[in-house]
Amino acid sequence: MPRHPLPIETWPDAETARSSRLFSALELPCGLTLPDRTWVPAMVPWRASADGLVTPEVLDWYRRLADGRPGALVVEATGIRELASGPLLRIGHERYLPGLAQLVDAVREASAGHTRLFIQLIDFLAIRRRPSPERFFGRYLALREAHREAAQAAQPGLDRDDDEAVRAVLLRLPPAALERALDARELEALSVGQRERVSDTWLPHIARLPQILPQLFADAAARAQRAGFDGVELHYAHAYTMASFLSRLNTRDDGYGGSGAARARLPLEVFAAVRARVGPRYAVGCRLLGEEVIAGGSNLSDAQHYACAFGQAGFDFLSISRGGKFEDARQPAVGQAAYPYTGASGQAAMPSVFGDEPPFGLNLPLAAGVRRALREAQLATPVVAAGGLNSFTLMEQALADGDTDLCGAARQSLADPDWWEKLRSGRGAEIQRCLYTNYCEALDQRHLQVTCQLWDRLSSDGSAASLSPDGRRRLEAPPDGWRTRSRGS
Ligand SMILES: Cc1cc2nc3c(=O)[nH]c(=O)nc-3n(C[C@H](O)[C@H](O)[C@H](O)COP(=O)(O)O)c2cc1C
Ligand code: SF4
Repeated sequence: MPRHPLPIETWPDAETARSSRLFSALELPCGLTLPDRTWVPAMVPWRASADGLVTPEVLDWYRRLADGRPGALVVEATGIRELASGPLLRIGHERYLPGLAQLVDAVREASAGHTRLFIQLIDFLAIRRRPSPERFFGRYLALREAHREAAQAAQPGLDRDDDEAVRAVLLRLPPAALERALDARELEALSVGQRERVSDTWLPHIARLPQILPQLFADAAARAQRAGFDGVELHYAHAYTMASFLSRLNTRDDGYGGSGAARARLPLEVFAAVRARVGPRYAVGCRLLGEEVIAGGSNLSDAQHYACAFGQAGFDFLSISRGGKFEDARQPAVGQAAYPYTGASGQAAMPSVFGDEPPFGLNLPLAAGVRRALREAQLATPVVAAGGLNSFTLMEQALADGDTDLCGAARQSLADPDWWEKLRSGRGAEIQRCLYTNYCEALDQRHLQVTCQLWDRLSSDGSAASLSPDGRRRLEAPPDGWRTRSRGS
């Protein structure tokens, strides 16, 4: 049962909205002007082709979000490498450009040129699905002396050089004996699936990350620029490579881990490479964590330190998120991969009405803390807040209090893409309000095309929205005005 009811909201009339902080313009340090402070953060809808190309469904998704004319819209996490990654957008090669350019055109047209369009650039490391014990012991486990000893202790007389026999004994070991026989990484590989970390520097491709990532991000940013995007958001948040460099858990000893300065080194080098490629007049921001919400992870003081270093370097905006880590993710079923939004850190990233605290504006104190540190350091870098921002009053107050410069709303924009336009034009009473129950996030977790539970209920409005392959969910928000029309009919 939801623990927290939606707060009752008094919506502004058009005149109040027009003269509000929320609907006032903001110029980024690079010179790009955002028409207002409204922002749709990145959301993966799982609509790209299997090889990462823009599809008609991707165009429909962004066109629909742009209908509401947010000041800024960030396209989903888009992979910068030539790596197979299922229906996630990619930008690691020239062949992605035509589709991405179409996406830019679609957003320009739907928002009548109002919305500034950014694309989130992501790198991630390999993660395996949780194996069955048979597969793990039969194929994946690299046998060590300790394994042979444990097998021999369990079955005296066993030929310890007979790999197949050793593997068969290990497979049958009781949990307590297994815990002694396997090291922590092997136990993790067995129980949740093997996951690479940035501190695995014994792996050559991990050791070389600082040498290859600046170039990869710079190439991707140059492509985004050529496709017509207004800027890029470097993904330095959640469970992915760059956030792992910033994490307190990064113990690399090659100058890119350990101290706060060393952890920020690669993110700054990536930024420098991107900036050198796209020039000073192009918007380059990042998303980073205000806190990791895992044991031993980075906290607000780390984020303040990073924010000041990034502001000094010339980032155009800092979008503050929270949590979303693998370290505390729930154990996946056999055959599934761990999902970084299932533990306490995941709840912090996408706070729901089932959590201990109401989700509404829950992560604002982090954005406020980061912004305060920036301003104390005489840095004007704009900050974007997100997390349960779902009402005019909440956002206007956050802007007035100096907690943030820009107001991000992901799930509310999914629930009703027209909500920004309804706010702007004094039609707040028509807004379909997000319930923060995370039905959408559960679809994301299963890598299914993301939709909103509120759209499902509205499938009989007569619009031509296509349905999911199982025919059970509509793939597009109903058109603006459906409520008024259905009431009238
Ligand atoms: C379906 C879905 C997909 C998301 N994909 C991304 C993503 O690609 N990159 C990212 O930084 N955050 C992603 N997020 C997190 C949102 O950008 C946002 O930070 C989070 O939902 C909290 O904001 P909200 O309360 O306004 O929804 C996603 C969220 C949802 C619900
Ligand atoms: S499914 Fe819809 S109502 Fe539920 S949390 Fe997601 S956007 Fe909000």
